[in-house]
Amino acid sequence: RRPIVLDTDPGIDDALAILYLAAAPEVEIVAVGAAPGNLPTAMAADNALRLLDLVGLTDVPVALGAHTPLSQPPAISRAHGEDGLGGAAGPPSARRPVAHSAAEQLVGLARRRPGELTVVALGPLTNLALALLLERDLPRLLRAVVWMGGAIHRAGNRTPHAEFNAWQDPEAAELVLAAGFDLTMVPLDVTETARADRAWVAAVAASADPRARFASRMLEHFVDFYATTLGIEGCLLHDPLAAAVAATPALATTCEEREVTVELTGTHTRGMLVTDLRPTIHPCGYARRPVRVVVEADVSRLLDRLRHALVGAALP
Ligand code: BDR
Ligand code: CA
Repeated sequence: RRPIVLDTDPGIDDALAILYLAAAPEVEIVAVGAAPGNLPTAMAADNALRLLDLVGLTDVPVALGAHTPLSQPPAISRAHGEDGLGGAAGPPSARRPVAHSAAEQLVGLARRRPGELTVVALGPLTNLALALLLERDLPRLLRAVVWMGGAIHRAGNRTPHAEFNAWQDPEAAELVLAAGFDLTMVPLDVTETARADRAWVAAVAASADPRARFASRMLEHFVDFYATTLGIEGCLLHDPLAAAVAATPALATTCEEREVTVELTGTHTRGMLVTDLRPTIHPCGYARRPVRVVVEADVSRLLDRLRHALVGAALP
């Protein structure tokens, strides 16, 4: 099983992604870092511990990440409820985060296992950027990075032009995109096609499995939030899709190789991705290593596999 280090800000869709990855036979979660995204970092770490407890991964370490993005105050998301898990959190884990930071944890693991690890980043890229500052060879020490973030052919969600994870820490995203990782980006273009409707949520809720009880509470909160706040039927599965692509790359049915940079100074466009869409490569070539951008995915397979993961069944 391919070893992954998860960097996450759970958050309901992050939580669903953790439950998915725990059930996916292709991968093994070896460590988790908490990112400053949907919630304050300490809450994100506590929620990650709760989820690992739920799936019995009680020996997987959770490290606290940065408490703020690199150059702006954190802004939390209102989508995930007071506890970040739609009211499902319950009592805290008996475990605590490890003593070192998420960036230190990642660098340590990458040095011990060169070329083996895939980072699955489901929030702002603050911790990965800090790890890069600690270890400039990180792009060579990691096997790959898969990131849920950005938007390339369409509008943002946090602002008219910026997706939440890119907008929350644009400097970190730019450092990571410039670093030369083998990077697969799973942007809004494709994650907004991954929608769970009420019938799918009801199928999860019909199961007595503890994962399904936990997940259905989160999902019911999430579909209500989408309906009342955004006027959208069902909820979007941004992070589960990125996690599923990391575990099973064949779920990404169409990808584009693109050179991507991040707008850092625009008055209205800070955090927007600037994607080179020119049909031919400039004669001087790329200024940086292009990233693999997923633009279409097998959503019905994702929904099928995620439902199996949540009800405790083997993934088809
Ligand atoms: C991303 O923003 C967060 O709120 C979600 O968890 C997801 O990672 C989608 O834009
Ligand atoms: Ca997230």
